[in-house]
Amino acid sequence: MPLPDSINATQSMLTTTGYVCSRELATVVFLSLKLGRPLFLEGEAGVGKTEIAKALAAALGRRLIRLQCYEGLDASSAVYEWNFAAQMVAIRAAESGDREGLKAELFSDEYLIRRPLLEAMQPQPGGAPILLIDELDRTDEPFEAFLLEALSDYQVTIPELGTITAPEPPITILTSNRTREVHDALKRRCLYHWVDYPDFDREMEILQSRAPEATEALSREIVAFVQRLRTEDLFKKPGVAETIDWAKCLLALDAIALSPQLIADTLGAILKYQDDIQKLAGSEATRILEEARKGLEG
Ligand SMILES: Nc1ncnc2c1ncn2[C@@H]1O[C@H](COP(=O)(O)OP(=O)(O)OP(=O)(O)O)[C@@H](O)[C@H]1O
Ligand SMILES: [Mg+2]
Repeated sequence: MPLPDSINATQSMLTTTGYVCSRELATVVFLSLKLGRPLFLEGEAGVGKTEIAKALAAALGRRLIRLQCYEGLDASSAVYEWNFAAQMVAIRAAESGDREGLKAELFSDEYLIRRPLLEAMQPQPGGAPILLIDELDRTDEPFEAFLLEALSDYQVTIPELGTITAPEPPITILTSNRTREVHDALKRRCLYHWVDYPDFDREMEILQSRAPEATEALSREIVAFVQRLRTEDLFKKPGVAETIDWAKCLLALDAIALSPQLIADTLGAILKYQDDIQKLAGSEATRILEEARKGLEG
């Protein structure tokens, strides 16, 4: 599928995958595609950052290549490694016989393990892939500096093979939960968007898209409750992912409406810290439910 030619087209393209996209997000996605700039998405957990990359890949029919960041991630795990074990076997096999040309063979494509960044620079059927660099805040500064370079020219040099340049830059999406600030230099390369919790109407749309089995009445109660819950002083507020999970739990229990008992029984689907769960025990959940219902009436 060709790249969308407007903000509206971007928004409806994402909608076809079930991703509910605000106008602001559609704008920044459109611009990032149009200008060929990486898109840097920050936001709380479970608000749909990773999902955007998946939705884009599905909608555009491109391959999704994901670099999952973690503490200690280094260039070799991100770009390429030599298949040392296979090289050893080849050396053993050659020990008795012909050793001519062995070295050249050992450092050829056959023994190269492509990690996500190198993979994203290879030609792909259907066009440039989507490169998702997920949870960047989990890596450290040296890796960021390395990434900055890789994102500036989309090429990597492998001493034994030479320089490999992407025929077409990948469509790059970086995400962060902001457990630490990402360096300005890297942000400057990218278009930036803060993915916020959706408002009531958008969260209703998301729920209808992801848990269509839920009745409108139940969905409204779920969304109102979760939205109200997010205003409480919690260690970890529920994301959209939790709203969807909770709806599925309630459906599995054949619930048609919320009740304090049902909430108490299923709180583990929306709150993942014991302190938060304890806070909601007893009358607190009842109070929030009443307030949520009042909000729905008003
Ligand atoms: N706007 C949306 N439209 C449709 N589904 C959504 C939307 N936002 C979130 N979701 C759903 O919520 C779930 C969580 O989304 P996702 O994994 O993208 O969150 P995230 O922001 O990457 O969270 P984390 O920071 O924890 O990785 C997904 O299963 C996705 O289907
Ligand atoms: Mg994610």
